[in-house]
Amino acid sequence: MTARRFRNPVFVALDTPDLNKALEIANAVKHYVGGLKVGFEFLTANGPDGVREVVKIGLPVFTDTKFHDIPNTVAAASREIAKLGAAMFNVHASGGEAMLREAAKAARAVDPQIKVLAVTVLTSLDDAVLETVGQHHPASEQVVRLAKLTQGAGLDGVVCSAHEIALLRQACGPDFMLVVPGIRPAGSDIGDQRRVMTPAEAHKAGADILVIGRPITGAADPATAARAIAAELALEPAS
Ligand code: C5P
Repeated sequence: MTARRFRNPVFVALDTPDLNKALEIANAVKHYVGGLKVGFEFLTANGPDGVREVVKIGLPVFTDTKFHDIPNTVAAASREIAKLGAAMFNVHASGGEAMLREAAKAARAVDPQIKVLAVTVLTSLDDAVLETVGQHHPASEQVVRLAKLTQGAGLDGVVCSAHEIALLRQACGPDFMLVVPGIRPAGSDIGDQRRVMTPAEAHKAGADILVIGRPITGAADPATAARAIAAELALEPAS
């Protein structure tokens, strides 16, 4: 276990524009997960007030902001995200080193404990698509390049696919946070995710945080689904 591992590594992705539904699911699963994630869908529908409501639940909140702009603009937005009480947020590593450094500096000036992560290469982009945007290296090479850039800029970690964990552990060492979506418990619907791992496999492979959405939020009983995942990971429910 690395020092950066959370007691319960599961962050449930509250991918809905409906604030009440998000709060209902979050309250139902809060004893069986380690954190909550809100992304574009929730953020654009509910804004900063919505984030404050989710933060009030009392679990760490990952705002999946994926900022990518000039350093000054990203720094200003990062400061505002930190003010909302998010425990983690992210930016695109391809925004460059100055943008990464400014984002982390601005957020940490508000909350020194905030975790600042970067997205390397979106998992929806394969080598053929990368060619069309002038990126002539294999995706895996670009993932390592951007993860090292992220680490060199002093950020806490990256969001990556479960299949990149081994590569990134080797490139960035044990203390770099790896946040992993594309998790599917055995037997659950894969949906639009392509290369998935089970929670136990990804945890064993070295993921620090497992981002899990539909297997929990789309279940008939989200609490039961979250509890089953916690059991698979051999975690005690939080009091
Ligand atoms: O429902 P599901 O478990 O597929 O949700 C995964 C979550 O992780 C979604 O919020 C999605 O936006 C996010 N994500 C992802 N793949 C990435 C980055 C983020 O699935 N490469």
